Amino acid sequence: MTDTLKIGNVSIERTAALAPMAGVADHAYRLICKKYGAAYVVSEMVSAKGICYSDRKTAELCTVTDEERPMAVQLFGNEPDFMAEAVGIVLGYRPDIIDINMGCPVPKVVGTGAGSALMKNIGLAAAVTEAAVKAAGDIPVTVKIRSGWSADTVNAPEMAKALEAAGASAIAVHGRTRDMFYSGESDMNVVKAVKEAVKIPVIGNGDITDYRSCSEMYERTGCDLVMIGRGSYGNPFIFREIATNLRGETYEPPSLEKKMRVMLEHIRLILELSEKCEELAMHEARKHAAWYMNGYYGSAKFRGRCYQLSSYNEAEALAAEFIELQKSRGLNNA
Ligand SMILES: Cc1cc2nc3c(=O)[nH]c(=O)nc-3n(C[C@H](O)[C@H](O)[C@H](O)COP(=O)(O)O)c2cc1C
Repeated sequence: MTDTLKIGNVSIERTAALAPMAGVADHAYRLICKKYGAAYVVSEMVSAKGICYSDRKTAELCTVTDEERPMAVQLFGNEPDFMAEAVGIVLGYRPDIIDINMGCPVPKVVGTGAGSALMKNIGLAAAVTEAAVKAAGDIPVTVKIRSGWSADTVNAPEMAKALEAAGASAIAVHGRTRDMFYSGESDMNVVKAVKEAVKIPVIGNGDITDYRSCSEMYERTGCDLVMIGRGSYGNPFIFREIATNLRGETYEPPSLEKKMRVMLEHIRLILELSEKCEELAMHEARKHAAWYMNGYYGSAKFRGRCYQLSSYNEAEALAAEFIELQKSRGLNNA
């Protein structure tokens, strides 16, 4: 099976989507994930207030290219007026969907009353959503939430109902509380409870690392779409793995050579899309290079070397050396 779901008037293949990740899921990352089958992608979060004060990073963060569609631009903020104005500005970049971040746990965002702080103020969360929905016109507005603020205040189903009433077209739920940050386990029961509470599509998120965990999320929660963040680190192939399996076809995992080719393609994209010089852009590329080498013999040492890379040629040489090392251990297709 794969079918499609509709968020507002936007059709999305019911396979797996790429989660928004500030500092990771930038333009290059989204293009690579799309190429390997991501059904839908979301931008890094952008401050609604920052946009209104014409933050110089706005264009970099909000640009949507046709190869990335369907794509959402994600905003965070806790003031309905700024949210409405920011939506008006973002519409100029022609996103398919506007998503509001009500799940970010970091103190810098929560401290302003935005992100997951809104889980503690459902009335304001609904007002922010309503303002965005009004400003967005035909473009659907979705909201990404957590299970709650803390273990004793899990309120995602109640929050989702209020956001649905405020006009949200879908809800994405990460099954951790704000207090957990990224520790412990994401709770699929919360995703299921949200799905049962609302009629709009629900996107399940948290700890999906392969087809098996993805199909468990679909089966256990009844969610409409699965969203993957960290499971795509150095592994954009996860989207193809899921789509292929959902179609009932046999999935062939990529060889190490193929992974290294994609790693180099990813680095080339980063360099091409960056306005920085090669050496500085390589700083961005280093963590990605390290992630592609995860899980192999000697990868800890090689990951360390990735953090020293300062040119594309060095990355190419390191990839060749890594392949040779695995071959010498008979682990080429590990
Ligand atoms: C480095 C990083 C940056 C993130 N940035 C955002 C963000 O900008 N907006 C957002 O809604 N969630 C953000 N998240 C949360 C993810 O979208 C996702 O909800 C979380 O990582 C759980 O999913 P996973 O287990 O598949 O990674 C971020 C997560 C990570 C690890």
